[in-house]
Amino acid sequence: MLEAQLQSLAASARQRILASATPEQLQAVRVEVLGRKGALAQISKDMANVPPQDRARIGKLLNAAKTELEAALESRENEFAAQALHARLDSEWLDVTLPATGPRPGALHPITRIQQELEELFLSMGVAVLDGPEVESEYNNFDALNIPPDHPARDMQDTFWLTDGCCLRTHTSPVQVRGMAKLGPPLRMIAPGRVFRNEEVDPSHEHTFYQLEGMMVDRNISIAHMLYFMKTLLRRIFGCEVTVRLRPGYFPFVEPGFELDIQCLICGGSGCPVCKHGGWVELMPCGLVHPNVLRMGGIDPEQWSGFAFGLGLTRLVMMRYGIDDIRLLQSGDLRFLRQF
Ligand code: PHE
Repeated sequence: MLEAQLQSLAASARQRILASATPEQLQAVRVEVLGRKGALAQISKDMANVPPQDRARIGKLLNAAKTELEAALESRENEFAAQALHARLDSEWLDVTLPATGPRPGALHPITRIQQELEELFLSMGVAVLDGPEVESEYNNFDALNIPPDHPARDMQDTFWLTDGCCLRTHTSPVQVRGMAKLGPPLRMIAPGRVFRNEEVDPSHEHTFYQLEGMMVDRNISIAHMLYFMKTLLRRIFGCEVTVRLRPGYFPFVEPGFELDIQCLICGGSGCPVCKHGGWVELMPCGLVHPNVLRMGGIDPEQWSGFAFGLGLTRLVMMRYGIDDIRLLQSGDLRFLRQF
């Protein structure tokens, strides 16, 4: 009676162990069959009612069933563990033979690129490329450029003053002063560099930007020389012939002074948002060097004359690449920089 019960219990347990689909189902079988209050424990208890002559035999059968079911459970548990391990290895598998992302090479900042292009162009034309300090004396930034202390033109540029009386240069024009002292007449020079103005920052204004100064001093220099020089530069930058016009403009260090406009390259002069529908874009202030500036540079204005221009390098880069917010250039934002 008990023996038959044991046999059918063992058979159904064996069956359930093999059929269990999850570790949880398997654990339930373990509890129901082998647990402290499980079916086998119940049979152990019932052994008390077995006639003494049958007890040893049934006890043996009971132990054998226990051992066998334990082993079956364990092997099924091992199968589940192996499955889980495989699933994990599959999901965390890493193909070490895939090509690597590789190094991300750096690129030159668009301002640096245009600056280098222009330096090469002018060097090939026999023009010296000069450098000046970003912290300038008041004399070089203003006085020597015909802007005395009480001159209203000092207010044209909002200056960052330092406590020692020097300033952050507000333009590259002080390099004209250095160039005259260094090279003497005749001279041809450009001076690209960073300049600073104490300005409210917005999409078209920055406190820090780049200019490229140009100056040529020789005998009988005229506006025609200046125009040739500047058109050569613009052709190089934009890769096409650009139409220019001169408007009168005031700067204390040139006389006469001009604003050079170019015909809008976006609309060809018919009017668009970039040229504010005027067809022309203001690009480069310029003029013939003021006699006072030559004189203060130790050059006799009776013997020599010259022209100078101040190209807004930052503005130019924005036009060439169609950048509509000046702040991007100094943002350090890699999403922006990687495009160049
Ligand atoms: N230095 C002037 C400025 O930054 C520009 C300029 C340069 C004008 C040379 C005339 C000649 O405003």
